[in-house]
Amino acid sequence: MSDVNITSVLQETRTFVPPAAFSQQAHVGSPAAYHELWETAKNDPARFWGEQARHLDWFEPFQHVMEGQMPETKWFTGGKLNASYNCVDRHLKTWRRNKAAIVWEGEPGDTRVLTYQDLHREVCRFANVLKGLGVTAGDRVTIYMPLVPEIVIAMLSCARIGAVHSIIFGGFSADAVAERNNDAQAKVVITTDGGWRRGKEVALKAAVDESLVKSPTVRSVVVLRRTGTPVAMEPGRDHWWDELMAEATADCPATPLDSEHPLFILYTSGSTGKPKGVLHTTGGYTLATMLTSKWVFDLKDDDLYWCTADVGWITGHSYVCYGPLANGTTVMMYEGAPNWPDEGRFWELIEKYKVTIFYTAPTAIRSFIRWGDQWPQKHDLSSLRLLGSVGEPINPEAWMWYHKVIGAERCPIVDTWWQTETGAIMISPLPGATTTKPGSCTHPLPGVVPDIVTKQGESLPANSGGLLVMKQPWPSMLRTLYGDHERFLKTYFSEIPGCYFAGDGARRDADGCFWVMGRVDDVLNVSGHRLSTMEVESALVSHPQVAEAAVVGFPHEIKGEGICCFVSLTGGDGDDALKQHLKEHVRRQIGALATPDMIRFTSALPKTRSGKIMRRLLRDIAAGRERVQDTTTLEDYGVLAKLRASEE
Ligand code: WTA
Repeated sequence: MSDVNITSVLQETRTFVPPAAFSQQAHVGSPAAYHELWETAKNDPARFWGEQARHLDWFEPFQHVMEGQMPETKWFTGGKLNASYNCVDRHLKTWRRNKAAIVWEGEPGDTRVLTYQDLHREVCRFANVLKGLGVTAGDRVTIYMPLVPEIVIAMLSCARIGAVHSIIFGGFSADAVAERNNDAQAKVVITTDGGWRRGKEVALKAAVDESLVKSPTVRSVVVLRRTGTPVAMEPGRDHWWDELMAEATADCPATPLDSEHPLFILYTSGSTGKPKGVLHTTGGYTLATMLTSKWVFDLKDDDLYWCTADVGWITGHSYVCYGPLANGTTVMMYEGAPNWPDEGRFWELIEKYKVTIFYTAPTAIRSFIRWGDQWPQKHDLSSLRLLGSVGEPINPEAWMWYHKVIGAERCPIVDTWWQTETGAIMISPLPGATTTKPGSCTHPLPGVVPDIVTKQGESLPANSGGLLVMKQPWPSMLRTLYGDHERFLKTYFSEIPGCYFAGDGARRDADGCFWVMGRVDDVLNVSGHRLSTMEVESALVSHPQVAEAAVVGFPHEIKGEGICCFVSLTGGDGDDALKQHLKEHVRRQIGALATPDMIRFTSALPKTRSGKIMRRLLRDIAAGRERVQDTTTLEDYGVLAKLRASEE
C-alpha cells in the first residue's frame, strides 16, 4: 500500500429526496424501512441471511447460515442449489415462462428476444454440449466473447453442470488470454469468430488461436458464428457452436451443487503484475446479487432493465446475468459502442425499447456530456424511472447532468460502490428510501458493515479521510484467489487487523454518507476498469529497448484516470515513433484498454535511497502539478528537472 495521504476536497451540499411517487411503489420505501433492515441484519446476521435465503430455490436445505470467522466464512453449508436453476428453471413454473428474459440488439441493428423458456432450452442444450466435450463439475471454462446472448447462455450452462467459468473481456489481448487460461488451467474456450465494435470487427478467434500456442491445457474450442468472417478451424480441437448444438438435446437437469461450490473465477488487477483470479461460490453470490438487484434497482415485473456493462467485467456478471435473471427480470443487452453509428445510439435504444432502469459508468456519462445534450434531447426518454452509476467515483457535475438531462429531474440516481471481490453492491442508495448527494454512494446495504479506519485499524470520526474496510463477512465475499490462498489472505486481510480491506480511500460525513475517493494502492481505474501499474510496467520492460519503466495515473477528463508511463531506455534517445511503438507494444501485451495515454522518456527515474520509485512524485509531474511532494528522500535531485522536461 502506498502512503495514505487522503485529504478530501469535495464539498457537496446539495441533497435529493426520493420522489414520493417513487417511494410509494418501491420495495424499500422509507428511511425507516431501510434502517430497520440494516439494524436487523447487523444485530443478527445469521438470522437475517437465513431468512433472505428462502428467496432462493434449494434442492437441499442448508444446515448452517454461516460458519467460521472472516475471511474463511462459509455460507449456507449443507445446502444444495444451482445458480442456473435459480436464474432460469424456477421461472418456468410461473407466468414468467413466456416473459422476455433477454432483449438484445447487435451493433449492426439485428435484434433478438429470448423468453425464459427459450433461455432454458438453449442453456440445457449448451450444457449438454459442454458435457459432450468432457467438461465435468469443477472444470474451468474460459469464455471470450462479445456481448451476444450466447455469452449468458454459456455462463449459465457452465453453472448448470458445476463447471467454473472464467470470462475474459473481449478487449484483452491474446497474451492476456493465455495467462488467464494457464492460471485457471482451462479445459475449454468458448469464443466467436469476431465481434462488432464501432463498425469494425474484433478478431476474437484469431486471438484465441494465438493464445493457445501458449496455453496447452485447453483441449477444445467452441466458436459461435457472429460476424461470418472466415476463421481457421483446427480439426479435432475447434468446433462450431451451431453444429454442436444441432446434435444436443434440451434435456439437462441442473446439478445440485454444494452452496460453496465454485461458480466462477474472474481475473482482476491487483498491486502486483500478475492478475488475481477472484473466486466466487454458488449460494452466497447468487443470493447477494439477487437481493441487491431487487433492493437497489427496485426491480418490478414490468421493468426493462439495462446495465450497459460488458459481461466480461464483474458488473456484467452480477447485474446483467445472475442478479436480474434470478429475479425474473427482462434484461436489455446491446452489443456495441454508444457512438455507433452516431452518439445517439443509447438514447435511441432507450426510446425504442422503453427502457425503465439504466445503469452505466461515470466515464460513459462524461463522454455523453462531451458529445452534447442534443443527442439525448432528440429522443423520448420518459420511460426511464431509475438511473445507476458504477465503477469509479462520479463527479458531482456528471451526477447533476445525469439527473437533469437523462433523468429529467424525475429519476433517482443510485451510485453503487462495490468491487469484483465483493461480488455484489455494498454501499448504495436505495432509490425509494435514501436522500442522495451528488458524488456520494451514501449508505451500506443491509448486511454490510463498513468503517473508515487508520492504517492501524482505528475508527475515524466523521469527515476524516481513511481506509474503507468491512467489519463483518457478507455472503458474496470472494472466497479465495484461485490457486493462491496466501495472496488472498495477504491482499485483503493482513493490512488492517480483523477487517476486509478494499483498497479504497474514503470518508464518511456527519450524516453517515460514504464518499469514496479512489484507490490507495497501485491500481489505476481507467474508464472504470482496473489496471495495475505493475502490469503496464512489466509489459513495457518486456520490450528490448526499455531499461526501466514507472507507470502512474493522471486525471483524465473522460477516462477518470489516464495512463502515464515514464520510460528509460537501454540506449539512445526516444522519439515519437518509439512512443507510438511502445503504446502498441503495451496494447498487444495486455489489450486496448491498457494503451498508454502518455509516454515520457527520461534518463533516470526518481528513487529513494533504498531504490523505491517515488510514485507520488511522478503522479504530480504527470498531472502537471508544480507543487511536488516531499522530496527529502530523493536520491538524485537532478532527475526531477529532467522529468519535468520530458513532456509528451
Ligand atoms: C471503484 C467494479 C467510487 C473503487 C464494480 C473500487 C467506485 C473499484 C465505485 C472496483 C463507486 C467502483 N464510487 N468508486 N460507485 N464503484 N468503484 O473490481 O475504486 O472493477 O475499488 O468493480 O472501482 O472495481 P471493480
